[in-house]
Amino acid sequence: MSVVPLSGDDKITVPGLLQRKSPDHSTPEKIVCLTAYDYPTARLADEAGVDVLLVGDSLAMVVLGHDSTLPVTIEEMLHHTRAVRRGTHRALVVADMPYGTYHSDSAQAVSNAVRFVKEAGAEAVKIEGGERRLELISRLTEAEIPVMGHVGLTPQSVNALGGYKVQGKTVDAAEQLLRDARAVEGAGAFAVVLEAIPRELAAQITRELRIPTIGIGAGPECDGQILVLHDMLGLTFAPPPKFARQYANAGEIISDAVREYCADVRNGAFPSDAESYHGTQVIQRKKPVSIVGC
Ligand code: KIV
Repeated sequence: MSVVPLSGDDKITVPGLLQRKSPDHSTPEKIVCLTAYDYPTARLADEAGVDVLLVGDSLAMVVLGHDSTLPVTIEEMLHHTRAVRRGTHRALVVADMPYGTYHSDSAQAVSNAVRFVKEAGAEAVKIEGGERRLELISRLTEAEIPVMGHVGLTPQSVNALGGYKVQGKTVDAAEQLLRDARAVEGAGAFAVVLEAIPRELAAQITRELRIPTIGIGAGPECDGQILVLHDMLGLTFAPPPKFARQYANAGEIISDAVREYCADVRNGAFPSDAESYHGTQVIQRKKPVSIVGC
């Protein structure tokens, strides 16, 4: 049986991430975060050196085919978090709390978060929202669950926001976002995602906070960056957002490989003799022919 090391010199931990931000609030070594949703992608990303693997509720859209993140359930998120955990040795595994699991009763929210840690091996949870999550973040950290905050464009608020729009563009909205980020830090979060906000505002928040900021569509001054894996691999079926750099066209690679396989099966090129097993043909009277061998 192989044992997943829970600590070690190289293992990314919450205190280790906090130390990456210097007392002058600079981050000499940027924090690399990426979403992962299953064992192979987690394993590849972990071995490639990603620091934080987020089991994002974006899986509702990029893996399960929903048109927003709202429908994904806690059972589905737990299932994917377990797979990511099994594929990860070095990175910190953060699980996104899905919509509806922390929005009503805070005792219920804490027990839902505990499930991610106890049943799925998450090392932290992420919740969306700023000032209005202050009390919940404190309760989660009191329950020994490290929390990553998420402010700016929070996709679970898509209906309230009226779409996926850049946030913090007016002075009032920027000031509110600054208050949100401060509240998340004050409540005890160890990091905060800044999504789809102006670069200048993200830079100001990053200079002000003692905890690392993780940007997605928030410019290069953030302490770290995160991308949705399927956006960076070209595995989505819609044009990617402006901020998502595509590093590979895995969609094309997969389509080409599957087309070639279809052709090989249809024209008899697959399987070859080398891809076949050999054995003895046994002929028994009055019974169908069976093949013995390995
Ligand atoms: O669900 C997700 O993938 C996220 C990231 C975009 C931060 O929340």
